[in-house]
Amino acid sequence: MPKVFIKTYGCQMNERDSEQVATMFIDGGYTMTDREHEADVILINTCSVREKAELKALGKMGLLTRRPEAKPHVVYGFMGCMAQSKGDELFRALPRLDLVIGTQKYHHIFRYVDDILRKRLERRMDDLSLSLAGSSVCDTDEETGSQNAIRDHLAQTGHSSAFVSIMQGCEMRCSYCIVPSTRGAERSRPMQDIIDEVESLVRQGIKEVTLLGQIVNRYGKDEHAVDGKSAFVRLLEQLNGIDGLERIRFTSPHPIGFREDLVNAYRYLPKLCSHIHFPMQSGSDRILKLMRRPYKNEKYISLCESMREARPDLAITTDIIVGFPGETEEDYLETKRAVERIGFDNAFIFQYSPRKDTPAAAMDGQLPQSVKEARNQDLLATVNAIAIEKNAALVGTEQLILVEGPSKTNADRLSGRTPQNKPVIIEGGSELIGKIVPVRITESTGFTLYGEIAPC
Ligand code: 5AD
Ligand code: SF4
Repeated sequence: MPKVFIKTYGCQMNERDSEQVATMFIDGGYTMTDREHEADVILINTCSVREKAELKALGKMGLLTRRPEAKPHVVYGFMGCMAQSKGDELFRALPRLDLVIGTQKYHHIFRYVDDILRKRLERRMDDLSLSLAGSSVCDTDEETGSQNAIRDHLAQTGHSSAFVSIMQGCEMRCSYCIVPSTRGAERSRPMQDIIDEVESLVRQGIKEVTLLGQIVNRYGKDEHAVDGKSAFVRLLEQLNGIDGLERIRFTSPHPIGFREDLVNAYRYLPKLCSHIHFPMQSGSDRILKLMRRPYKNEKYISLCESMREARPDLAITTDIIVGFPGETEEDYLETKRAVERIGFDNAFIFQYSPRKDTPAAAMDGQLPQSVKEARNQDLLATVNAIAIEKNAALVGTEQLILVEGPSKTNADRLSGRTPQNKPVIIEGGSELIGKIVPVRITESTGFTLYGEIAPC
């Protein structure tokens, strides 16, 4: 049985796509391995959002293809956003590379790989001296219906939560972002397919699903609202009705298309978790306009306030870019003030990275690395102070924890998450994995909470 190693960079969408690819190899008689040196097939699923992510993937593939001990028949492939954006130029950078597969072609990877591997192994039996390198496939075309191909899952043994991809693509054209060109136009899956997938996951023991999409709340955007409810809210309602499913999350929504019906969903859908990851990007209206984000900071803040009114314990996390071209000190301070005013539970802060063929990369006022770094550090200190304070306020409260598995730092303890998506470490046996248990929070060490199972 040939062995496949997949390394994934980037977002949860990529994690999910890699899982889909893995299922296809398993169905085809291969096995997965997490040891790269024993693999017959090495795939890297790449991210293009920042230059750093691309460099990491290129560096990793460079190391893997140049290992002197590597077996000559090994098939090497790039998939994902960088594969889509760079295409066959990757073969010039890495002569030993065999495959470059774009974001709408994952369901063909198995066939391409299996074909190359078979030919190599057959030839090797005939003549060991034959050169085995040099076959190359680049497939980065668009494909109608490709969003429907991300639907299979690995066996869910020992897992309590799963990702479900409900739409692909983005048409927002934010001026800094490469995603519209790597992921293509917005395409949604049929609602019944998603419901069937979630029901099947629940039958396998899954308690929590996270719905994924580049702009997840634009799911089914071309469908008419029914009783004032968008397709996305109707999907949430349907999933809320599935017996055995306990928790629903989604990521990432955009303020555009975030209407009253979705805010209200936090009032009447008990399975919708009290956490939203809601990218703000900037607190300065001037910068938001340059970013081509079609909302003002006040609008973003009022949406956060409405959601908190609908669900008082809602945790809000966000993405923020610092050092966008032309960002003045005053623009940056507006972002910082917005962060303080909203009081995010946490935030990912990104230093602006110019991306290929995006309008912002050609804008005047590109900032030096030192300014980006200083704003990043300063904002991080603010974000962390608020996050620590929010976690400390949870000490003494009782939280329902979905137990995920052994803690990564100490395998004798268990780790789980609150509805607000905060990790909690508890003592307990493996029989608790996959269960939702009441826990009293006893301690917070800044970012990690500790608790003990509350007596019934
Ligand atoms: N530079 C820095 N950060 C970026 N992001 C997207 N494009 C860029 C870029 N060119 C950030 C945004 C987005 C997150 C996934 O990555 O904040 O929400
Ligand atoms: Fe990175 Fe965006 Fe692609 Fe996800 S969709 S891997 S964040 S470029």
